[in-house]
Amino acid sequence: MKILVLHGPNLNLLGTREPGVYGTVTLANINSAIAELAVQLGASIDFFQSNSEGALIDAIQGAVASHDGILMNPAAYTHTSIAIRDAIAAIGLPVVEVHLSNIHAREPFRHNSFIAPVAIGQIAGFGPDSYLLGLEALVRHIRGKAR
Ligand code: DQA
Repeated sequence: MKILVLHGPNLNLLGTREPGVYGTVTLANINSAIAELAVQLGASIDFFQSNSEGALIDAIQGAVASHDGILMNPAAYTHTSIAIRDAIAAIGLPVVEVHLSNIHAREPFRHNSFIAPVAIGQIAGFGPDSYLLGLEALVRHIRGKAR
């Protein structure tokens, strides 16, 4: 099973970016934890981070031919990007949306996700664990084991 992990804008700055909100764990640390869990789950992972909406859309479109599902933190594009939502709807692969912070407990403009309606589900508020919980949920969904 192949999973594509997509990280949206500014997530390359994790570690130093607003540590009061996002903590001090780096994106490399998060990717290592994902890779470690993936071994246990028997999944293989590709990682991609971009600050560009178009590059993320290209990656989503490209995943159809190569991956079984996508674990994605769309970052600020969560709240703005109908184009990313449309790309996910177009490909039909299962997508799990994750966020480090609890977007629903933050500023009102973060409460809406354009992605959530086309995702299997959303996991938010658990810091880096959101990615690990999301990966497990995605793999279980793909294997048809979700309860
Ligand atoms: C985020 C939440 C978004 O609102 C924000 O724009 C981010 C990170 C999170 O992981 O908590 O960049 O997606």
